[in-house]
Amino acid sequence: MTEVTVARTPESVAEPRAATGLMELDGMLEGGFPVGSLITLTGKPGTGKTIFGSQFLYYGAKKLKQAGMYVSMLEGEKSFLRNARRIGFEFEPLMESKTFAFLEIPAPTAEGLPALWEQIAREIDENQTERLVIDSFTAMSPAFQTVGDLRTFTHVLLGKIVGGASGCTTLMITEEGTSGAFPWTGVEEFVADGVIYFRLLAAGDARVRYIEITKMRGTNHQMGPIPIDIGPRGIRIIHPHVRGRLG
Ligand SMILES: Nc1ncnc2c1ncn2[C@@H]1O[C@H](COP(=O)(O)OP(=O)(O)O)[C@@H](O)[C@H]1O
Ligand SMILES: [Mg+2]
Repeated sequence: MTEVTVARTPESVAEPRAATGLMELDGMLEGGFPVGSLITLTGKPGTGKTIFGSQFLYYGAKKLKQAGMYVSMLEGEKSFLRNARRIGFEFEPLMESKTFAFLEIPAPTAEGLPALWEQIAREIDENQTERLVIDSFTAMSPAFQTVGDLRTFTHVLLGKIVGGASGCTTLMITEEGTSGAFPWTGVEEFVADGVIYFRLLAAGDARVRYIEITKMRGTNHQMGPIPIDIGPRGIRIIHPHVRGRLG
């Protein structure tokens, strides 16, 4: 006669999160990035994108035992490891225990792109990679000569890596302000689940760094600039009360 209705518990809508490696940022993002999402990190050179990506992988591997991979078209392994060590990220032991992998690849051509993405997808499967950083979309974009090339790339990235069985949380770096803008500038932000901007401002003699989250799927996130600092232990969120100083 009477129908029994069962209330949906809040747990049924909660989405698993990948902690960012910055506790204060996790607090602003309901725990971190949605697991299996694609996040773009955009900013000019020297704004902290590589450090942020390294920190995400280091924290994941070291503290959460989640395998990570850094795919670099810009920097060799030696230089990456040396820079990481200077901010306290010791990746070598994690490489030995297979919780970190560095993949150095030359900027691909249009013809080489599909094979390259198949290779990355395979390595992710083999290593059970849960966290991926691609440095950078900008280095790849000359290979996208047609909309079809870009579609293939997006299809493989979103279908096999980000949204695939692995559900790999992926950070894709975009370099801003490099000469020769490609027709694909900004297109990655449309397909991304999240967009973070990295900024460095001159304030008199001082330099002010901040990040800004302009998009994060399924997340009630903070709007406006979030001041950061880069120091001997990597990136740190400066206490939010300093925010007013940015004017
Ligand atoms: N130990 C450190 N202390 C202070 N600042 C640092 C330190 N290591 C790196 N930096 C800063 O970080 C910047 C590099 O950040 P990086 O993540 O490589 O930038 P991007 O990838 O956006 O080009 C350097 O230009 C420097 O200003
Ligand atoms: Mg960089």
